[in-house]
Amino acid sequence: MKDFNFYAPTEVAFGADAEKQIATLAATHGASKVLIHYGGKSALKSGLIDEIKQTLTQAGIGYAELGGVVPNPRLSKVYEGIGLCRSEGVDFILAVGGGSVIDSAKTIASGVPYEGDVWDFFTKPLSPKQALPIGVVLTIPAAGSEMSNGCVITKEEGWLKRSFDNNVLRPRFAVMNPLRTFTLPPYQTACGVTDIMMHTMERYFSHDDDMLFTDAVAEALMRTVKDCGMRVLQEPDNYQLRAQIMWAGSWAHNDLTGCGTTGDWATHMTEHELSAIYDVAHGAGLAALWPHWATYVLDENPTRFAQFAVNVMGVTNDFKHPRQTAVEGIRAMCRYYHEIGMPVSIPELIGRKATDEEIEQMATKCTLGKTITVGQLKALSYDDVANIYRLANK
Ligand code: NZQ
Ligand code: ZN
Repeated sequence: MKDFNFYAPTEVAFGADAEKQIATLAATHGASKVLIHYGGKSALKSGLIDEIKQTLTQAGIGYAELGGVVPNPRLSKVYEGIGLCRSEGVDFILAVGGGSVIDSAKTIASGVPYEGDVWDFFTKPLSPKQALPIGVVLTIPAAGSEMSNGCVITKEEGWLKRSFDNNVLRPRFAVMNPLRTFTLPPYQTACGVTDIMMHTMERYFSHDDDMLFTDAVAEALMRTVKDCGMRVLQEPDNYQLRAQIMWAGSWAHNDLTGCGTTGDWATHMTEHELSAIYDVAHGAGLAALWPHWATYVLDENPTRFAQFAVNVMGVTNDFKHPRQTAVEGIRAMCRYYHEIGMPVSIPELIGRKATDEEIEQMATKCTLGKTITVGQLKALSYDDVANIYRLANK
């Protein structure tokens, strides 16, 4: 087991009445003027934004608002938010939505006190020293950004989707009401389930194989999300199922399931290039790539893939042929993705094959102009990354 720090400072209010605590939590964390930040329409349509305005007003907390965050959130909206926070004297950001809104809020929060261009944090070896505090009202379990220290933003010029991590970005609180997720369309639910599992899978597939406790937690989390994810598509109004997925989503990405492991992250890095140029849902992009990444790197640690096959995917262990067990696990995952409506290839994801030029462009961007390798289980060069896109393009 590798040495690690574990830091998960986010206060969580979870349950059907959780929203009643929004104003108290905001006040406790120092809010006097809040930016209410949200997406396209779901939080407006459900009445959530109006409820939040009312509860803040009753508590004597002022607010400004900025909606219109799109999936794969854009840098231009971040600049708008930074300007608004400065002109309105905002001292706290409340993100109401999913990963896209939260990441936009995190980037605004780090941009407000910074004199330079906030894009610097995504592209230069620079870290924010401070950020405005943020709180979250989560409406879709998926990205895990409500407890994570990361944010992902797309710069329209060149369609660059980039991320950075810093503990100043971790939300002060997260309000999670599973009832709010009943309105999610099946496709978004399935994208969320895929992303949640993948956050733990990225940490699970490594060369470090002596992490009994971390493995046990990781496997329980992945099994839970896989099983509840399948069932919730038949029973979208089942509170218990929605609640399991929502809670697991936060723990899949707050680093607990990575304690003691190296982590891989190649599927995420290659997926970010897909969602940057095709503007697809992140979870669906992960499903389209993972089976091909797994097949490509399997021989780096077949025992690990066999353990995943047996303990998560329910494959019968072929003790004499662990590699075959591992392959069956990847096949089982492909079947699962199809059963929940996820693609397992680029053509299934975007409705056509990627062109050779697009593959070269994505592989170049992913390896920062062929200057870095991607992933840890196998360090993938530009050629490896392009090969994985090609495998996924059949
Ligand atoms: O904009 P609205 O109308 O709200 O619609 C959203 C959006 O279209 C809809 N939605 C959200 N809550 C809903 C709802 N529809 C009905 N009922 C509700 N209760 O869902 C759609 C997707 O929302 P989005 O926030 O984009 O989804 P998600 O949470 O999957 O976030 C994806 C983004 O997070 C990044 C991804 O790359 C992507 O940009 N990630 C962020 C991470 C982090 N910060 O730690 C880690 C992840 O790996 C990921 O990369
Ligand atoms: Zn993800």
